[in-house]
Amino acid sequence: MIPEKTGPAAVIVLAAGAGTRMKSRTPKILHEIGGRSMVGHALLAARSIHPRQLAVVVRHERDLVARHLSDVDPAALIVDQDDVPGTGRAVEVALQALDAEQNLTGTVVVTYGDVPLLSGALLAELVETHEREANAVTVLTAVLDDATGYGRILRGEDGTVTGIREHKDASDAERLIREVNSGIYAFDAAVLRNALAHVTTDNSQGEKYLTDVLALARQAGGRVAAVVTADRWQVEGANDRVQLAALGAELNRRVVEAWMRAGVTVVDPSTTWIDSSVTLDEDVRLLPNTQLHGATRVARDAVVGPDTTLTDVTVGEGAKVVRTHGSGAVIGPDAAVGPFTYLRPGTVLGESGKIGAFYETKNVTIGRGSKLSHLGYAGDAEIGEDTNIGCGNITANYDGEKKHRTVIGSGVRTGSNTVFVAPVTVGDGAYSGAGAVIRKDVPAGALALTVAAQRNTEGWVQANRPGTRSAELAQAATSHSSSTPASTEEGKS
Ligand code: UD1
Ligand code: MG
Repeated sequence: MIPEKTGPAAVIVLAAGAGTRMKSRTPKILHEIGGRSMVGHALLAARSIHPRQLAVVVRHERDLVARHLSDVDPAALIVDQDDVPGTGRAVEVALQALDAEQNLTGTVVVTYGDVPLLSGALLAELVETHEREANAVTVLTAVLDDATGYGRILRGEDGTVTGIREHKDASDAERLIREVNSGIYAFDAAVLRNALAHVTTDNSQGEKYLTDVLALARQAGGRVAAVVTADRWQVEGANDRVQLAALGAELNRRVVEAWMRAGVTVVDPSTTWIDSSVTLDEDVRLLPNTQLHGATRVARDAVVGPDTTLTDVTVGEGAKVVRTHGSGAVIGPDAAVGPFTYLRPGTVLGESGKIGAFYETKNVTIGRGSKLSHLGYAGDAEIGEDTNIGCGNITANYDGEKKHRTVIGSGVRTGSNTVFVAPVTVGDGAYSGAGAVIRKDVPAGALALTVAAQRNTEGWVQANRPGTRSAELAQAATSHSSSTPASTEEGKS
């Protein structure tokens, strides 16, 4: 029998640091890029290598972080770091917590909660190298132009990794080294446990350094090696909001590029922002200034943009969504939305339907082929199929206390500026006249009119606005025409 492929024994994500340079009331690792918190990205990468256990070490703003973790990864073990500072102590408390259930053996991976671009593929490569070479420790490194602040990788004559020196503890010669420690490692659990017991706080920062484990592992006869990545973004942390924005832009560049390679046309990648959680079909076209967030899905041949922001919106095959701000909506196949349209949660537009310019919708189901073409509000309503809602129609759904429903049937034609005073029902095939205020149900096939007499007071402008351009033109027009009665009343609507 072939044994099932499983990942490392554990991943430990370090997330206890304060992150003071963010200058924020929100803990650093909860800041988002690509629609997901930094720690959320770290956990996704960690989960992708299928560890048997996963622990996150917390301390700063512990309760806020723990609450977030229980949302994004409820199975993660939350471990509290004590008063002893340093990455070494953080890993030690995590190891003790994990060992409490069952003594760990095999590979233990350590990553950071504030390194959001690290991919599962690179983590997998680290673990694979570590296990294939039977190393005691394998550290992920990168070669940087400016290595200031990072721990430097020390190598012997033959190139083997001998240890890591923190920037603050390094000599001038060591500071010239450009190969840096990413802070991401694969350890043999037993080596890690034994070495940490010997790590002290005897250094310039008075911290228990995880980096000291490398030299200790070598002294104990273990093999220490490095995986060098050429992709510095994958090991970069965000310490302030400038770095956060740079990482966010790079993540977006990668996500957009991946979708283009998967068959999506992106006219302007630099103004197109796509959360990592969005899904797109082949032959989707995204026009400039489009932002797609959350669980948004766009089906084949749909065109979204320009200037469109969609959050948790489903766009059907072949639909067109132009200059629209939408959330929590479903747009059917071949439907058309926009320009200048505001779709609020609960909007469901049927196949080949239309919600046109300057429309706001909320909690409304619109049937196949029905059109709300221009200027209006539709909320708490249900509209059948092949109905045409005229210009400027409003569902008056709110009585000041409660919301009420409007139900409009199929094949209905409503006149311009019809107001539906909910609760109200309009039957199939009914019509309404311009300016109708529908307060009573309209039976199928009926014409609903709200009739108010129109009165024309002839000569009013000349008498009341003398000397104006209007009066001048009115005078010229009436002096040419034959004389008419001074006032008319008409019942035309
Ligand atoms: C650490 C490494 C350094 C490496 C650098 C990469 C050590 C001693 N040094 O330095 O070699 O080049 O990362 O970015 O490990 N953390 C805890 N508990 C603590 C301290 C830190 O959980 O007590 C977490 C932080 O939240 C952070 C990570 O560990 O996610 C790194 O901490 P940080 O203080 O940034 O370490 P550096 O001094 O930058
Ligand atoms: Mg750091």
